[in-house]
Amino acid sequence: MSRAEIEMLRRRAARRIPSHVVDYVAATADGVAEAEAGRWDAVELRPTALRGGAGPTLATTVLGTSVDHPLLVAPMAQQVAAHPDGEAATGRAVASSGSLLGVSTNTAIPFARIAEQGAPWWFQTYVLAERELTYVLAERAASAGASAILLTVELTALRVPAHVEPVNWPEGRARARLANLTADERARIEGRPTTAPGLDEIARLREATGLPVVVKGVLRGDDARRAVDAGAAGVLVSTHGHRRMAGSVLVPDALCEVVDAVGADAEVYVDGGIRDGRHALAALALGARAVFVGRPVWWALAAGGAEGVGALLDGLAEELRTAMAQSGVSSADEAHALRLARVPRRQAPDSR
Ligand SMILES: Cc1cc2nc3c(=O)[nH]c(=O)nc-3n(C[C@H](O)[C@H](O)[C@H](O)COP(=O)(O)O)c2cc1C
Repeated sequence: MSRAEIEMLRRRAARRIPSHVVDYVAATADGVAEAEAGRWDAVELRPTALRGGAGPTLATTVLGTSVDHPLLVAPMAQQVAAHPDGEAATGRAVASSGSLLGVSTNTAIPFARIAEQGAPWWFQTYVLAERELTYVLAERAASAGASAILLTVELTALRVPAHVEPVNWPEGRARARLANLTADERARIEGRPTTAPGLDEIARLREATGLPVVVKGVLRGDDARRAVDAGAAGVLVSTHGHRRMAGSVLVPDALCEVVDAVGADAEVYVDGGIRDGRHALAALALGARAVFVGRPVWWALAAGGAEGVGALLDGLAEELRTAMAQSGVSSADEAHALRLARVPRRQAPDSR
């Protein structure tokens, strides 16, 4: 799976899906496409030699769950807009590839159907305008088999299109069409947060579900440290795929700061712009335990259904294996210990 093949997936998806949906998926805060991918391109790898050893090992664990490789699937709303089976199709591919699935608050597929596919999954939640619903939904996900909660603390101005039906809401709300609701009701149902979550949400979600909580959207070392001290089992460095705000730090830079702040006290993951095996290796070498892939999965789902997603994940994993072999390391831990990746200073935006 090369960058050119991912670009082909995007084009094939664009031929099959209405253009307003394709635009919603591609949207970024400043209109710049693939800024994070460009930053990963700039990360330098420092290949090592003369270490002998066996071939690369990709298998690892994330919060104790075994995965065959560290390329996981980011939670994304709108998967039914890519394919009628939505996250059920994605989940099937994730199971066959030995990966892990992030499931969005705004999924339109019932949890039980996603769980049936056999992939390990983490449930992503926002702190909802009607707070109690946050815990009801998270408990529901936990009893359906989610093995962790991804608490998204990044906000984005982008809205979920009105035809997505969040079927996992408590009865009564489940069948409500978003398009037929008042603005206030829509705010509740869409999961659009109205207040910024505080640190106490980590403990509340842990207590409500009995599951470990990973905080998604952390971009600073101090915030990562506070989250871990408040009980987070992991931190996912993310700008929501460059959708959060213009002028934000890019994820490779933020990852370094977060890894330094957290040390061995929690697992650190990253998403945003991971488009090839070399990007994934750079992330692992900078200290990520695993990476999440977003839009390419959506495009693959739209272009080729579960099979398309499976081919994407397997292809990226194979590229990661090759990149590890080429750079002389046999594991992510070794890549990190040997400081295989270096992030060059970022040029001032006006000179880019
Ligand atoms: C169409 C779309 C929908 C998304 N929906 C959610 C969501 O519901 N919850 C969430 O936490 N992140 C959401 N994200 C952000 C992704 O989880 C992830 O952070 C991002 O897509 C990673 O960047 P990438 O697309 O460049 O790989 C969404 C992203 C896209 C593109």
